[in-house]
Amino acid sequence: MANSSLTQAKSAKNDEFYTQWADIEREVQAYLEFDPNIFRGKTILCPCDDPEWSNFTKFFALHFHDYSLKKLISTSYAVESKNYREGYQLTLFEQNDPKFDADKTRTQGKIFVLDSDDINRDGVINIDDLKWDYLDSDGDFRSTEVLKLRDEADIIITNPPFSMFREFLAWIVEADKFFLIIGNMNATTYKEVFPLIMSNKMWLGNGFHAGNAYFSSPALREYADGVYNPESGLVKFRNCCWFTNIDHGRRHQPLPLMTMADNLKFSKHKELKGKTTYGRYDNYDAIEVPFTDAIPSDYDGVMGVPISFLDKYCPEQFNIVGTLESNAPDNAYRTYFYTSKECSEAYSTRFGKKGIYDLNASGVVNGVKMFKRILIKAKGAAE
Ligand SMILES: C[S@@+](CC[C@H](N)C(=O)[O-])C[C@H]1O[C@@H](n2cnc3c(N)ncnc32)[C@H](O)[C@@H]1O
Repeated sequence: MANSSLTQAKSAKNDEFYTQWADIEREVQAYLEFDPNIFRGKTILCPCDDPEWSNFTKFFALHFHDYSLKKLISTSYAVESKNYREGYQLTLFEQNDPKFDADKTRTQGKIFVLDSDDINRDGVINIDDLKWDYLDSDGDFRSTEVLKLRDEADIIITNPPFSMFREFLAWIVEADKFFLIIGNMNATTYKEVFPLIMSNKMWLGNGFHAGNAYFSSPALREYADGVYNPESGLVKFRNCCWFTNIDHGRRHQPLPLMTMADNLKFSKHKELKGKTTYGRYDNYDAIEVPFTDAIPSDYDGVMGVPISFLDKYCPEQFNIVGTLESNAPDNAYRTYFYTSKECSEAYSTRFGKKGIYDLNASGVVNGVKMFKRILIKAKGAAE
């Protein structure tokens, strides 16, 4: 049920989901543990973040001094440009400020800056020293104004609009910036995203507690029971993760694994225990490993593993060599292409009616199509 909430959010194009302070804190802590100076002298841009709503801006403003930041820039998107406009509230500091403009507040984005300027002269730089103004545009991250801020920044950190994830990631990558952003785990197999993961230019972050992400949203009432919790006032997404190119310790911890023989003998998964071999794809030169904890420690060939493996991926332990969902004709491990007749027959066998079941998009074991898989190989295994 909870997984469907993200789909629901995308179809309704509701992008108003505000990240919890505790999630930001836990994630950022993982990078600081790996490198305590990771933010020293750096400019952080939060490009989808109004401080009234965004804990990202508040969090980095609070820690401006502790992290020795050079500058924090946060920009917000005009309410009139948002897909979801209900529940808009003026920020108090805007309303009480001589700069306040009743028209601009709805049609223009805002910029908030924190730097070494101790505006209230209290000897500390914090959220009280935040300067703000209206942008000339609506604050769209693709606008020339925000593009310039992107180029000025060292690190881009935010939870971007769910409906624009691909575009947002491309916007960061073209500027070659460090980043820490929230997205949907399914994005890992997008054709624009997977090559970055495969080449270790992007990886999964430390992660949400127990894999559950909770967000506040003005559109909460639209979500079903079990997704929206009226007590906490939050909506739960199970398929969210952090994407980053900043290093953290967890990604260097190898997975503890059993040998192939031990998996077949002792695995807790009935799909493997007692079998004589792992499945082998009919159309790829690789074995099918249905669970990340069942990856054999002593197999030198290519293995198809679940996407959730990426959360445990240690680049010192494995190389990612491809994906089975790309349908790329140049996949080096492809051994067989199904004809459309074979695809139709497979559909009819499975569902008892006419249709096309594109067997080529996935790995197929004994005529049965598997879930999305990522192809990996043990580090150091012969090419
Ligand atoms: C998922 S919410 C996250 C908000 C905030 N970053 C947080 O984590 O609490 C994404 C935000 O991006 C804003 N947004 C949508 N399209 C945008 C665009 N083209 N440029 C900038 N912001 C946009 C939405 O209005 C929304 O407030």
